[in-house]
Amino acid sequence: MDIDRRAFLASVGGLAVVEALDPEAKAEALEHYMMEKLDEEAGGLIIDGEAQVAAAAPDATIRRGAGSLFGPQGPADNRKMASLAPMSDKPTLIEFFEKRFNPANHVLQSATRALKTGMSEEITLACLLHDVVLNLVKVDHGWWGAQMLEPYVPEKVSWAIRYHQALRFYPDPANGYEYPELYTRIFGKDYVPQPHIKAAYDYARNHKWYLEARMVTVNDLYAFDPNAKVSIEPFIDIIGRHFKQPKEGLGNDGSPTAHMWRTMMFPDNPL
Ligand SMILES: [Fe+2]
Ligand SMILES: [Fe+2]
Repeated sequence: MDIDRRAFLASVGGLAVVEALDPEAKAEALEHYMMEKLDEEAGGLIIDGEAQVAAAAPDATIRRGAGSLFGPQGPADNRKMASLAPMSDKPTLIEFFEKRFNPANHVLQSATRALKTGMSEEITLACLLHDVVLNLVKVDHGWWGAQMLEPYVPEKVSWAIRYHQALRFYPDPANGYEYPELYTRIFGKDYVPQPHIKAAYDYARNHKWYLEARMVTVNDLYAFDPNAKVSIEPFIDIIGRHFKQPKEGLGNDGSPTAHMWRTMMFPDNPL
């Protein structure tokens, strides 16, 4: 994917705003921008719309960490708070993909690559789910995402999702992960990750499941192809085998994270 540095900077409010962000937030901003562009080119809903909010209300403070479901959506020239399709009484993960995560191009691309390169079903599932929490909350998305999914997926899967956030900043050429050239090109300097990111990396690097999280970052990096055609179809069986779909439906099952799913079902509820 071609990234226009000026368009990116404009989308987040200009160079001064970007310069003021810490390295982690810079990388997050870039990743969100790329995912947004990808969904735009895939013809789906535009999730997020900071530039439009900034234009409509120049003095407004935009909370960058709020999930995509809580921002304006719609065609690039007419973003607004879109009404969302109502969820069924017993929502499944697939239904969330269709009605709340759509078009989810980036995560589908990432999982498609995992499948094509012969990765395990667990890693493929981790790739499929690694960024879906961005619909709920963006800041610290590795940790939030892992927590949200933990009751429903093998421990290895949520572990990989938690640590992919930190591992992005650390190259591992032996396992196919180079430091993203894009980070250097867009920001023009090397990152110094925050201490908690470094600590998470050090921990994960020495963990027996290190490669699970590393493979999520490998598939992450190559999942921004604007021409890729992807669908949830190839993953339905893997979801069936490894995702513990609650019979009451996600959000209704009383799990420790059911409220997170409910929040995505009803993002307009005031309380
Ligand atoms: Fe991510
Ligand atoms: Fe990603």
